[in-house]
Amino acid sequence: MVNTMSENRIICGLDIGTTKICAIIGEYNPDNNSYKIIGIGKSPSHGLRKGIVIDIEKTTKSILEALRKAQKHTEHTITGVTIGITGNHIRSLNSNSTITISHKGDDVIHDAEIDESDIERALDAVKSIHVGVDREVIHTLPQKYFVDNQKEIDNPVGMSGNKLTINALIITATINNVKNLVRSVQATGLNVNGIVLESLSSAEAVLTKDQKELGVALIDIGGGTTDITVYQDGDVKYAGVIEYAGSIITRDIASLIQTSFIEAERIKTKYACASTSLSNKNEKVDITVKSLNGKDEIKLNSHQLSLYVEARIEEILTLSKTEIEKYIDIKKLSGGVIFTGGGALLKGLNEANKKIFGVQSQIGYPNRLLGLENKDLNPEYSTAIGLLHWAKKDKRNQVIRSLKAGITIWDKIIDFFTNIIQQFF
Ligand SMILES: Nc1ncnc2c1ncn2[C@@H]1O[C@H](COP(=O)(O)OP(=O)(O)OP(=O)(O)O)[C@@H](O)[C@H]1O
Ligand SMILES: [Mg+2]
Repeated sequence: MVNTMSENRIICGLDIGTTKICAIIGEYNPDNNSYKIIGIGKSPSHGLRKGIVIDIEKTTKSILEALRKAQKHTEHTITGVTIGITGNHIRSLNSNSTITISHKGDDVIHDAEIDESDIERALDAVKSIHVGVDREVIHTLPQKYFVDNQKEIDNPVGMSGNKLTINALIITATINNVKNLVRSVQATGLNVNGIVLESLSSAEAVLTKDQKELGVALIDIGGGTTDITVYQDGDVKYAGVIEYAGSIITRDIASLIQTSFIEAERIKTKYACASTSLSNKNEKVDITVKSLNGKDEIKLNSHQLSLYVEARIEEILTLSKTEIEKYIDIKKLSGGVIFTGGGALLKGLNEANKKIFGVQSQIGYPNRLLGLENKDLNPEYSTAIGLLHWAKKDKRNQVIRSLKAGITIWDKIIDFFTNIIQQFF
């Protein structure tokens, strides 16, 4: 009997965030389109600011740490990864192109039948628009198809026609930022198999098909950037990046209270609330923080802390709203706003949203995958989980099978980079 089962593939998503790097190794089963997480590693991120690499060596070292942790769980050694990209150099623009359908075969006298190669040709034509010499196209997202003079068509494959028009959303990034990101990964000895806009990646992990149809704004509040993706009628209508997120809230707290970033981060994640209407004045918690010199104690309460946080989160949400409303009326997004990213863990975010956006909102958790004892992952993992979904589309080999040998290699590489970095600092 012929065995028609496909072999499982090992894939790796690498989220190179401003505050943390997260590597997730997954086993993808093409027969039932399912994944199992077989390795996960997280490390603090050094070397990025607002989503952009500003120090390749530090970034490489952080990446290695995350990969090494992820590899500890598995006997597979990764050779290639699918990575995320963000930063306020990202732009999205609409483009369209029309191609003539070629008649395939000699005896065809009627309209030709559209096939996959025609779609590819139309997409290539859309991509060839001038995006600027310093930019490159990282995504071409088809939106609408038109065959001859017919109305919008979801899938033109198999249809008859002479002309195919395609409308697409083009996402571009500056070449230098892409190069620096890729170099940081390649310096670890890994290949970059794919580059995905982080907000699209998070969307893949968080949103359902129905939410994309109804219309939603997905807002991924990270450390350095807030990434926005708007879906309507199943398509991405807008993707953009704002360079304010969780880190600036921490920075505000540190400078207003005159404490360290570590202390500011600690009290933010433990006590802060995005809405002072929730941080009830009567139920305020007393907080003690170390001063900048580490010797004195500063006292404040949770309501005062929330006053600082509320001001900044409202600014971030207002900026997001202004950006979205350039392209779409938020009230028409029946699915409302979905928050994800580590910043979505801030208490009271849905209340702050009500005040600014005036539509319903919820916190978006990444969909549950097998493995890791079926543990639910929090929203800071949305991008990394989404990258696994994208990685499966990448046909390149991502793994060599070996027995833990890779770990030794990683250790050597890490030692090498540690030595280099120690020589500089
Ligand atoms: N419980 C919490 N309350 C408030 N903020 C939180 C909480 N947990 C994490 N955060 C914030 O989430 C942010 C980190 O989120 P995330 O891990 O998604 O960022 P990143 O991917 O490293 O950065 P970016 O996507 O901007 O490059 C930090 O600013 C952190 O303070
Ligand atoms: Mg992120």
